[in-house]
Amino acid sequence: MPTDSPGIIDAGDPQSPPLARRRFVEVLLGGGFLATAVAFLYPVLRYLAPPKATDMGSDAVVAGRVGELKANSGKVFRFGNRPGLLVRTSSGEYRAMSATCTHLSCTVQYRDDLRQVWCACHNGRYDLNGRNISGPPPRPLEAFEVQVRGNEIFVRRRRES
Ligand code: FES
Repeated sequence: MPTDSPGIIDAGDPQSPPLARRRFVEVLLGGGFLATAVAFLYPVLRYLAPPKATDMGSDAVVAGRVGELKANSGKVFRFGNRPGLLVRTSSGEYRAMSATCTHLSCTVQYRDDLRQVWCACHNGRYDLNGRNISGPPPRPLEAFEVQVRGNEIFVRRRRES
């Protein structure tokens, strides 16, 4: 039986939306509001939260985690807008350098069979200090400072002295 009172919706009224559709619209609008709130708040919170302090300074990046690399292996990591190469030597020591080949800027990689840094573009090779040792690369790779702090491996540019 339809009611004439304002604000009261009769489920049997053909003008009123079904309950499931109304619930769906409420969830959709609530989810949209929540997503908008997160989209505004997340950058603000990221701005307000200070970065992890290290004695390496603010230009250091986390290149990897301890235990992530086995001995005699390497990985490419993001160093600003360029790639960096983190190598764990056979003796377990960490080395880091730019991963941009000094010949024509291809990204280099660590070759565990050669125990060298290798550029696949023109077979350029570097030693584990980044020195160019064969092939067309004209200059060494930029070597970075490495520091292990807790579980993280930090890398940064060497400071001029
Ligand atoms: S770009 Fe690396 S050897 Fe040519």
